[in-house]
Amino acid sequence: MQRLLPSPGPVDERGLAEAYRLPGGRHVRVNFVAALDGAISVAGRSGGLGSDGDRRVFRVLRALADAVLVGHGTAAAEGYRPVLADSPVGRLRTALGSRPTAPVVVVSRRASLAPDAQLVTDAVSPTVLVTCAAADAGRRAALAAAGVQVLVCGDDDVDLPSAVDALADRGLAQLVCEGGPALFAAALAAGVVDELDLSVAPLLVGGGPGLLAGPPLPGPAAAELVQVLEEGGYLFTRYALAGPAPPGAA
Ligand SMILES: NC(=O)c1ccc[n+]([C@@H]2O[C@H](COP(=O)([O-])OP(=O)(O)OC[C@H]3O[C@@H](n4cnc5c(N)ncnc54)[C@H](OP(=O)(O)O)[C@@H]3O)[C@@H](O)[C@H]2O)c1
Repeated sequence: MQRLLPSPGPVDERGLAEAYRLPGGRHVRVNFVAALDGAISVAGRSGGLGSDGDRRVFRVLRALADAVLVGHGTAAAEGYRPVLADSPVGRLRTALGSRPTAPVVVVSRRASLAPDAQLVTDAVSPTVLVTCAAADAGRRAALAAAGVQVLVCGDDDVDLPSAVDALADRGLAQLVCEGGPALFAAALAAGVVDELDLSVAPLLVGGGPGLLAGPPLPGPAAAELVQVLEEGGYLFTRYALAGPAPPGAA
């Protein structure tokens, strides 16, 4: 892999972790892989867009995070499992001096996580569910009884700023959010995203949807390009985000 920006040069495995390392403090970064046309999946899964380099970046971002934040739609579509110590991410975490496991935090307005899902039954760091008071109380209780940490943030809908606060209070201050497009759109609109790490695959797929689901943002969110890596025609970008512009902004 090579760095194109800011300073051109080769990037080895240690350099890759350094390229994505964060200073201390709260931070939410969103990681996506997209095709040149903006498509984020092939036959409903992101795997068809990936490359070896994309998987290494994915692992580094997980290894550097306190927790993995994901919408229930993505967790279900991609068959999410816990981050275990005896896994490539767990071993990388250990090598980088982090705790070997990290919780997966599932965001679901309806508390849709199934109590017998692997994210629940196989978790070592308990899986966290972020939901709202309107979610079925029986579902919430069943998940809590199965060992899930249930965080109720908001009444009729999930209040993402409150959720990020509650996670930071639990020592989960640096989050990698792996989407999907509904959660990314809501997180951007709520102003809780600090960074977008977008891998651009040299593929054209068609069919949509893109990175953001739902209605347009109140205004375009400006992104500052801070880093570009390249391998095999894939671009691995880091953008700093300033939050959405106010309604009516050009
Ligand atoms: N290329 C990539 O990097 C990438 C990354 C991620 C996902 N994807 C793809 O995206 C697709 C999944 O899309 P998706 O829109 O279903 O993903 P999603 O955003 O992960 O899931 C949507 C669901 O998550 C919950 N959710 C999301 N945002 C929420 C919020 N603000 N408040 C409360 N609940 C929230 C809701 O669950 P409930 O209905 O349970 O309330 C909602 O129905 C899959 O095909 C996946 O492969 C691709």
